[in-house]
Amino acid sequence: MTILGIESSCDETAAAVYDGKKMLSNIIASQAVHKTFGGIVPELASRAHHKTITGTVEQALNEAGSCIDDIDAVAVTSGPGLMGSLLVGLCFAKGLSLANKKPLIGIDHMDAHMYANFIDEEPDYPFVCLIVSGGHTRLVYVDEPFQHTILGKTRDDAAGEAFDKIGKILGLPYPGGPEIDQCAQKGNPEFYEFPRSMMNKGFEFSFSGLKTSLLYYSKEKGEQFVQEHLYDICASVSEAITDVLIVKLERAVVKTGVTSVLLAGGVSANSMLRKKAEHLSHKLNVKLFIPKMEYCTDNAAMIAITGYMKAQRGEFDDMGLKPYAKLN
Ligand code: KG4
Ligand code: ZN
Repeated sequence: MTILGIESSCDETAAAVYDGKKMLSNIIASQAVHKTFGGIVPELASRAHHKTITGTVEQALNEAGSCIDDIDAVAVTSGPGLMGSLLVGLCFAKGLSLANKKPLIGIDHMDAHMYANFIDEEPDYPFVCLIVSGGHTRLVYVDEPFQHTILGKTRDDAAGEAFDKIGKILGLPYPGGPEIDQCAQKGNPEFYEFPRSMMNKGFEFSFSGLKTSLLYYSKEKGEQFVQEHLYDICASVSEAITDVLIVKLERAVVKTGVTSVLLAGGVSANSMLRKKAEHLSHKLNVKLFIPKMEYCTDNAAMIAITGYMKAQRGEFDDMGLKPYAKLN
């Protein structure tokens, strides 16, 4: 089965082709327009998707050496995400599906982040997965495909959102996550101890206190101090965020007794988090799966693989498939 995956939930227009063995193409058109605003402007995002989606899908088919006739099903993100952005991808996929008589498969974006781990190797069930993106942070226990229990989620900001808001306070370009990561690699993580909320119990997360603490710290110290110690501050912030993520992940592994652990979502590209997760996997003797860098942040390869898995299970949708903005 060959699947065309389409993703347009936020600010990346993406298309990919997967044939069950290999990712034949993985095209991402990023929207630079948001950089000047320091965050995503939903109206501009949907307009940009509309502009680029045809070319992106064409490019994905060309690069895969395929044409629409070679495609067995069209998989598309149906949520969660920005409604206007989701509608562009969903309507495009429906049109393609209807005109070419190809089955349609709706994909949950957060499921797709997790199943990005299945592109190169298949983790054994049951496993625990830490999904950390710009919009969501969740810790899930998965005992069989598409069956998961949410152990914990964030009470306020998502981990990626915390990175981005802190980046903005520090005067870094949007998105702050990768910028802070770069700076942190040159700094001292013990320079300042930012708060680590809810470390001692449970699986829930909270990052808004850390953001507020950084805001007060930078106001108190002044701009010059912050710029002079930018690398150390970024390293200390990254240390605090990743400490919390790893402690909760460790607690989940110990509690559930799983032998496989997965990271997923944009923040799983973070170098400090990846290192700490590797250390954790040695300490607990569990197998660690982290998507390749290009499959961490938003992409359509993860939509195509998840579509493939659903197609194998005979799970298809019809033209009634609806977009949803919030987590299902
Ligand atoms: O999964 P994703 O691409 O989009 C959503 O579904 O939200 O995640 C984007 C988030 C952004 O908040 C971005 O700053 C963060 O992932 N991110 C990172 C890194 N790369 C991307 N955060 C920390 N370190 C990184 N290297
Ligand atoms: Zn995402």
